Amino acid sequence: MSQTSHDRLLIIDFGSQVTQLIARRLRELKVYCEIHPYQNVTAETLREFAPKAVIFSGGPDSVVREGSPRPPKEVYDLGVPILGICYGQQVMMQDLGGMVEAGESHTAEFGRAYVQPTEERIDLLNGWFLEGSGREQVWMSHGDHVSKLAPGFKVYGTSPGAPFAITADLERRFYAVQFHPEVHHTPNGATLYENFVKDAGFSGDWTMAAYREEMIAAIREQVGDAHVICGLSGGVDSSVTAILLHEAIGEQLTCVFVDHGLLRLNEAEEVVTMFRDHYNINLIHADESDLFLGELEGVSDPEVKRKTIGRLFIDVFQKYAGEIENATFLAQGTLYPDVIESVSFSGGPSVTIKSHHNVGGLPEKMGLKLVEPLRELFKDEVRALGTELGLPASFIGRHPFPGPGLAIRCPGEITRDKLEILRKADAVYIDQIRKHGLYDEIWQAFAAILPMRTVGVMGDGRTYDYALALRAVTSVDGMTADYYPFSHDFLGETSTRIINEVRGVNRVFYDCTSKPPGTIELE
Ligand code: XMP
Repeated sequence: MSQTSHDRLLIIDFGSQVTQLIARRLRELKVYCEIHPYQNVTAETLREFAPKAVIFSGGPDSVVREGSPRPPKEVYDLGVPILGICYGQQVMMQDLGGMVEAGESHTAEFGRAYVQPTEERIDLLNGWFLEGSGREQVWMSHGDHVSKLAPGFKVYGTSPGAPFAITADLERRFYAVQFHPEVHHTPNGATLYENFVKDAGFSGDWTMAAYREEMIAAIREQVGDAHVICGLSGGVDSSVTAILLHEAIGEQLTCVFVDHGLLRLNEAEEVVTMFRDHYNINLIHADESDLFLGELEGVSDPEVKRKTIGRLFIDVFQKYAGEIENATFLAQGTLYPDVIESVSFSGGPSVTIKSHHNVGGLPEKMGLKLVEPLRELFKDEVRALGTELGLPASFIGRHPFPGPGLAIRCPGEITRDKLEILRKADAVYIDQIRKHGLYDEIWQAFAAILPMRTVGVMGDGRTYDYALALRAVTSVDGMTADYYPFSHDFLGETSTRIINEVRGVNRVFYDCTSKPPGTIELE
């Protein structure tokens, strides 16, 4: 568990698909919280964590089933407010003397439902039921339902399928709801969380300014006078990690920027200038493009490309890092969603669609200890921390860029000529997007060079040049995506500009595939 000294809220995870959203809603309220799978929560961890409030998440199991997930019973004796959601509500009722009925009956509810208040209003529902209709839309997803309340509880909201949609024992400050207030489809859900944490006495002390100060102190304590190596990719996570470490330990940090020759136009120079000149960080620019492009020669299989790049990356990083005297630590920009994923009990094995660029095995291989100053943060919090550390908004808002770089935007064989064309075309495309004020509306946009030439006519002559694909998607997390609906004017103007300004391209396609069935990158 973390060392954070803020007021802390504990989310006990029973395996809901949307537990992370509970944490998001709370962090938005400047409340520090952690998600822990129920099996890891014991009486001792409760004592150690000392939460100011607890939330039980939803979950796929049935409390009626023998051996179904439960929290340690000591949680009810902590004297702090508890909020149970869906399965969490049923757990609370079952544990405290109520009754739950299994789902076959007619009361299962999935999707949108409307909750009506009962006569008595409670603080948890401040700001609710104010609209003309006097009801609130909520999102339900339950088979089982509570059929008898535990002693001390009363009903404060009902829906057609859930007579006990909102329940509470005001004396003990235990609250239990059947729906999911954390999801988008419960439009007023954030207010319910706000009321809950207010009742629990949270002061909203989780700010990025406070986090920055605390993390700097924590890094100094962890690292002492040892040396730290940090791999820099030019992306937001590794950049924020590097700058935070530099603030904490200055000269004891050396960054290694592995340039595989698959970066965008001017990208390597920009990274080096920013970190070396602007931030004055010790930086090794490992220009190994000859090595990478040499090994990739003749390779067109996407997985072989990815694996080759991954393997060389580790070798190169190791070579340069090995030259740094008395390096003891490796800094990584691991984020909280990665931490949750690795302890999650519900994450089963899934099919490998693409071998992602991953340097997870490096620390053991090199005998290094890890410093991970972002491991308590979500992506948007990293951006806020980056702003706090003075990174320019244009840098923080950059679209994601994959570890294997342009290699996966060049289906078929990779050649220096093709990369050159791709870099120029991509720069024109992104310039167009910026000029039309669309950059921030789009989650990711890039050009890809297709493994084919087509015939064209320019001037009075025949051309036989490369075709280019343009991709732009909207997304929240990259897991699913939709193509961006550019206007025909925009597409026409961009195509003309690319063909006029970039030699070697005579045709432009726009990729209108969503994900699924496509992936965002072409390989
Ligand atoms: P796909 O193509 O799988 O991409 O739909 C989803 C998101 O992940 C990025 N991506 C990668 N990022 N290493 C990375 O750091 C990789 O190997 C990698 N492959 C894909 C992709 O750019 C998109 O944002």
